[in-house]
Amino acid sequence: MRKPMIAGNWKMNKTPTETVALAEELKKIRVLHNVEIVVCPMTVSLFAASQALKGSEIVLGAQNVHFEDKGAFTGEANCASYKELGVKYIILGHSERRQYFAETNETVNKKVLKVLEQGFRPIVCVGEKLEEKQAGITNEVVCLQTKAALCGVERSQIDNVVIAYEPVWAIGTGMTATAKDANDTIRAIRGAVREMYGDLAEQVRILYGGSMNDKNCDELMSQPEIDGGLIGGASLVAEKFDRIVNYGR
Ligand code: 13P
Repeated sequence: MRKPMIAGNWKMNKTPTETVALAEELKKIRVLHNVEIVVCPMTVSLFAASQALKGSEIVLGAQNVHFEDKGAFTGEANCASYKELGVKYIILGHSERRQYFAETNETVNKKVLKVLEQGFRPIVCVGEKLEEKQAGITNEVVCLQTKAALCGVERSQIDNVVIAYEPVWAIGTGMTATAKDANDTIRAIRGAVREMYGDLAEQVRILYGGSMNDKNCDELMSQPEIDGGLIGGASLVAEKFDRIVNYGR
């Protein structure tokens, strides 16, 4: 019932010119099953991507947005601009933004409410740090992040929300959560959504992210609670991304 989703988070990679080249490669991918494919280029490369992806099934996402409509926020980007570019998804609260750009549960929540109001679909990132995993408080951390992010989201909006479980220690390190651990944590996250929205939680897609690649995608995607992947490094290589979107084939 939940359509699987594979999303590439290109992070701070690919200039506009390089974006067009990668988009052209990705457009050649033959998708062998029912999966939604999203790519999230750098803000300055979104225009190039939107042009290059015209007529393709690949959906455009952004990596961040400001929670105000416009104004004196030097260096930020707003929802209205993304709308003009055909952006559908916006990654929010990625751990790199929390770590390096002082994003908090509160700012993530403001952004979630704004992008839903503006008709976008947020991809809300949650995940524990290594020391939190070692302290045995993974579920507490990710459930709190989830509930804080969703505070004030209406029942009618919840099926537009995508959550990505990204253990911080697994991002860019080559260390992946075991498929079972990822599945268990995602089940806990869905439990937190259920506490707020009851059975509507079954409609919310929850992705795994963190060193997911062409080698481990089959096992991760075979887990019942894992509805997709948010892919960093491996999404920058067309052959790897092809293999991931065609997981299990
Ligand atoms: P990697 O796939 O490079 O570990 O990055 C994961 C990620 O942070 C996606 O948002």
